[in-house]
Amino acid sequence: MQSSVRIPRISVACSLPALRAQADRLAASLGLRLADDQTGTDLLLRLTERHLELLSPGNRELTGAVFVEFVVGKAGYRRRQGGREMLLRAVGCKAKQPRKVLDATGGLGRDAFILADHGCTVRVVERHPVIAALLADGLRRALGHPETGEAAARITLTLADSRHILADMARTGEQLDVVYLDPMFPPRSKSAKVKKDLRILQLLTGPEEDGGTLLAAALQTAAARVVVKRPKGAPALPGPAPSHSHAGATTRFDVYLRPAGGGRPAAGP
Ligand SMILES: C[S@@+](CC[C@H](N)C(=O)[O-])C[C@H]1O[C@@H](n2cnc3c(N)ncnc32)[C@H](O)[C@@H]1O
Repeated sequence: MQSSVRIPRISVACSLPALRAQADRLAASLGLRLADDQTGTDLLLRLTERHLELLSPGNRELTGAVFVEFVVGKAGYRRRQGGREMLLRAVGCKAKQPRKVLDATGGLGRDAFILADHGCTVRVVERHPVIAALLADGLRRALGHPETGEAAARITLTLADSRHILADMARTGEQLDVVYLDPMFPPRSKSAKVKKDLRILQLLTGPEEDGGTLLAAALQTAAARVVVKRPKGAPALPGPAPSHSHAGATTRFDVYLRPAGGGRPAAGP
């Protein structure tokens, strides 16, 4: 079947002539072209003296840049406020029981960073090279900062398709406590409710329809539980019913508990 999704044209740019050699290497590593002008570009990956950022030039609905920032700004604020309780509860992350987590849909690493900031060791897997490059840039800066260095050191990033990683783990018997999934939900509308970051990521990745496959693979691999983030009101991923859920104002976490010794997910919290 032919896909109707248009692959966006992405170019690399830099904000200063001094960054050109670095931008050149980045473009080569991603198989992209270095653009001196933005004609014919849907998305621009731009290296600045502060960070790596992604823009959608000429798209009046998506102004501003997306970049990964764990030290200051919203993520830094969230970290200082103690993080997101619902995610931590869903993953079963307690102060004296840090978990080993495979975040199989890494994205911009926000959920992974919350978990790492609360002591979890997180292996993040992201399959889109541009998204992985943005995340690698944010993690590198977080590693070098005294407030975030410890948490960032608990995160490793792999550029790969999680389906392959999960299949390898099932083959070798390697297990982590938790597999965390946050597959992109199909765009609901162009409303402001769908955050700009998510809409730019959606431009990059297109619709993702392999959530059910990821869940099945995750259930073979997680030792304790699989956690799936969904928009509140969205159906659960195709597959077995979750053991329980934690629902907030806009988001729901479906938890699939693994019975000791394997088998189908256990019922109840
Ligand atoms: C909604 S975003 C995740 C956001 C993330 N939880 C955060 O806190 O920033 C979904 C991401 O999963 C990635 N993804 C989807 N399927 C994947 C797969 N099979 N392997 C690796 N990454 C995948 C997409 O490229 C996208 O970046």
